[in-house]
Amino acid sequence: MIADPATLDLADPQTFLDVDLPGLWRRLRAESPVHWNEPRGDNPGFWVVTRHADCVAAYKDNKNLTSERGNVLTTLLQGHDSASGKMLAVSDGEHHRAVRNLMLKSFSPRFLESVAEQVKARTRALLAEVIERGSCDFATDVADHIPINTIGDLMDVPAADRPKLVDWNNRTLSRISSEDSQMDEWLARNEILLYFTELADQRRRNPGDDVLSALANGLVDGRPLPEDEVVFNSYSLILGADESSRMSSIGAILALAENTGQWRALKNGDVSIASATEEVLRWTTPAMHFGRRAVADVELGGQLIRDGDVVTMWNSSANFDEDVFDDPARFDLGRTPNRHIAFGFGPHFCLGAYLGRAHVSSVLEGLRDLVSEIHVEGPPTRLYSNFVYGYSSLPVRLSPA
Ligand code: HEM
Repeated sequence: MIADPATLDLADPQTFLDVDLPGLWRRLRAESPVHWNEPRGDNPGFWVVTRHADCVAAYKDNKNLTSERGNVLTTLLQGHDSASGKMLAVSDGEHHRAVRNLMLKSFSPRFLESVAEQVKARTRALLAEVIERGSCDFATDVADHIPINTIGDLMDVPAADRPKLVDWNNRTLSRISSEDSQMDEWLARNEILLYFTELADQRRRNPGDDVLSALANGLVDGRPLPEDEVVFNSYSLILGADESSRMSSIGAILALAENTGQWRALKNGDVSIASATEEVLRWTTPAMHFGRRAVADVELGGQLIRDGDVVTMWNSSANFDEDVFDDPARFDLGRTPNRHIAFGFGPHFCLGAYLGRAHVSSVLEGLRDLVSEIHVEGPPTRLYSNFVYGYSSLPVRLSPA
């Protein structure tokens, strides 16, 4: 039985653990592609956009749909984001463009190529270690250590501080269980902000060639970026870089273990790492949704969205839209074309897409070269979140090639 969307609350993280998600998205795309999620408790109602074309249209329209009052359900339903206008992802217009340009300088492919090489080497070393050991938890023993070290290197975060940043990230974005409180989430967020206030101060006095130094000393319209903007953007980099990439890598292991034909295709070199990476990103879609607030009446997918309404775009549905993907429920590492929107679309398209891809491809390449068989040894543990789809634990045995 596919759940009736009218009775569901997509703001409630528990919903994502309880329902048949692919079935729900299929039903919404077919019956109510721009669906109204009724108000529940203290939360106002909001629009749920599930078709690829409508999500793309919403992502592109940053004139009528702003990010400045939040870009995920949690902040959108509160009515504001405390980093509004001060953090790239929740800024719009000229300032967004100027800060994005400043940050892009540190994210140019020429600079990132050497980082991608380090990612590969680090992933291979981690894989070699767990293969030798036999059994491992792929989430905590491997995936947890890859992206945080990449963004850590880019921002020159001392190695000893990185484990606590992963822990704070986990608490901020996706609570591991329903018992973790909102207070815990809030405290973790403040820890990260405080941490980067201190580190940015050091970099201002003593700059290096890292991204944090670029933010702390860079000029926007001839003026240095204010301290709070440096801190909020550092926070968003550490959060953005870490969690989504981890979730894609963990999801890749699970998908390969469940689809042995595709695992063989990868091992035999029948599919390229590049196309396999795109399919893993589509299949796992770690950032389930992003959202906007309407600042004018606007039509979307045949629905009138009123000025002030919250609109959420569900990448996790759009990436399985049968109007765009042939046989979308098939995990097909050779899929071309693959117009997934796991990294969003338009003016806020993911700044770290190159790095996200580098993380996933390093895992796929490492598995292809070093592993013969993947055995899942116990049930994976899903995150408790309405935003991030993924697993906090995945016990596996990786046999040597
Ligand atoms: C934006 C997904 C990796 C930093 C976004 C957006 C998505 C996304 C969907 C659009 C948000 C919106 O429209 O409101 C992902 C996924 C990743 C990933 C699935 C990995 C598999 C990274 C990495 C970094 C990063 C590695 C940093 C190094 C950012 C930033 C933005 C962003 C700063 C805001 C861009 C802007 O507003 O102009 N990401 N991301 N992400 N991402 Fe990523």
